[in-house]
Amino acid sequence: MNFLKKQENWIQTILKQNGYEVENVILIPSGKPEFGEFQYNGIMALAKKNQENPQELAKKIAEQLKQNENFEKVSVAGPGFINLTFSCSSLLKYSEELLLEENWFEKKESKKIIIDYGGPNVAKILHVGHLRSANIGEALKRLAKCLGHDVIGDVHLGDYGLQMGMVMLEIQTRYPNLSCFQADYQKEKVEDLPITNNDLIELYPIASKKAKEDEKVMEQARNITYLLQQNHPGYKALWRSIMDISLQDMKEVYEKLSVSFDLWQGESDAEKIIPEMMEYLNQKNIIKESEGAKIIDVALDTDKLAVPPLLLIKSNHTVSYETTDLATIWERKKIYNPDEIWYVVDKRQELHFTQVFRASKKADILNDSTKLEFIGFGTMNGKDGKPFKTRDGGVMSLRNLLELVKEETKKNMIDSIKGEEREKISEVIAIGTIKFADFLSHRSTDYIFDPEKFCDANGKTGPFILYSTIRMRSLIEKAGNKEVHFTKLKGTSDKKVLLQILNFQKVLENSFSSKSLHEITDYLYHLNNIYNNFYSENRILTENDEALQNTWIALTKLVFKMNQTLLQILAIEIPNRM
Ligand code: ARG
Repeated sequence: MNFLKKQENWIQTILKQNGYEVENVILIPSGKPEFGEFQYNGIMALAKKNQENPQELAKKIAEQLKQNENFEKVSVAGPGFINLTFSCSSLLKYSEELLLEENWFEKKESKKIIIDYGGPNVAKILHVGHLRSANIGEALKRLAKCLGHDVIGDVHLGDYGLQMGMVMLEIQTRYPNLSCFQADYQKEKVEDLPITNNDLIELYPIASKKAKEDEKVMEQARNITYLLQQNHPGYKALWRSIMDISLQDMKEVYEKLSVSFDLWQGESDAEKIIPEMMEYLNQKNIIKESEGAKIIDVALDTDKLAVPPLLLIKSNHTVSYETTDLATIWERKKIYNPDEIWYVVDKRQELHFTQVFRASKKADILNDSTKLEFIGFGTMNGKDGKPFKTRDGGVMSLRNLLELVKEETKKNMIDSIKGEEREKISEVIAIGTIKFADFLSHRSTDYIFDPEKFCDANGKTGPFILYSTIRMRSLIEKAGNKEVHFTKLKGTSDKKVLLQILNFQKVLENSFSSKSLHEITDYLYHLNNIYNNFYSENRILTENDEALQNTWIALTKLVFKMNQTLLQILAIEIPNRM
């Protein structure tokens, strides 16, 4: 078991033996290492509760903690802090175990979790918001898997709403003679569709502008959306063909990002479920009519801000975004019966999910045994503090962003990487750079994307971690394949690395419970900084003391393995060189 946890449990037992019941003991890295490496701060509260003198109590407990051979020093400071210093031998032993261990994740429970992330919209540009969802969702999925959960990732395409009607109307206006617009059309797909994905992406803003400016055009777009939802053969075939074009492009982009989905479901998959669900909702008697629309009231007396009713069927008979999400819950419950469903979506959609979650509970589609969680994220902004745009003010597409960061990356790469290799490696680094930056703050905060800052190999950045990882790998290679063990420490910067390693499991657990990857990027940064200090302080490959040298190589292997594992969770690839 995790070393730190073991010590915490042991201290808990000691407290219990002394008649103090505490829920848990948490050792935190000490702010003042000269007094101790870790601290236990729980004594003060305990003394207060039992009306005892905290310093006396701390001293009494500290005396008993000295029995543990894992502690080299136990002391009391201030009003009753207990400071602990670990013995080198205990750290060496634990590190050795970790290095040999194949599977070093503690798997406590296994829940079935569906993660809804990505959420790209068919026929629309993949922009930086979708990038955040893909990055965060993929990493959370990998983290949950490492911790033993059974996870299903679903891309949940936006493939059903008004945007489809708009784009199809624009296609019809441009190409009225296409086969699918003729009467009695019966084919699966449109063979004569003269359109690429780039065309689609250009079409949408034009179509949307036209519809917004002219109510008649909007009406036509709504009508096409309605016909599509009614399975009109021509529009359905056109829809299928648009899906093919768009999906091919999306899959390419996701592959580049090392993002993969178990399910490629979308809003349109709700179609087959809606009639059954409507019947059920009718029986439940919770649907209301309002100005020609069908709604479900979801407001609660306790609401501080008004939560409007969920719009189930619009007055023009089309299905809303809320309905497709409600139906998707219905289907996920029926097929997978998950313990949890997570939605990794822009935080500005929180109200939508509040409505959907409440409706699903109110209608008993889900009971309390399935937890729904909205994992909202903030906006990636430009230096002006506004949502990130291209230089000429357009939507920052994922491709644009990638190009921009690639250019910046190339400035810092060694000259000997040339031609095609330079292209490939700069792309791998650029993606790592973007992801690392994306994870740096708590997911819910907005942040400013500053390419120069995020590419700086000396900063808290992806390139810094990648560079340090590559250097470790090269040291391991230079040291040859000899077997190394943890046997001896100098007790200076090398001990600091081993102490940092103790936090690994906690970092994963904290990251999992906050559903935010910043805990992992933070940890990677600290671990690598501490390792790099150790690296520059010692001449590992020319060290004469063999036991020390062996330990240092083993230590490098262990940190390298941790970097590999954490970067794998973040879905960041390690280039061969940079
Ligand atoms: N397609 C949506 C958008 O671009 C995101 C989908 C999020 N997932 C969901 N189940 N609604 O805004």
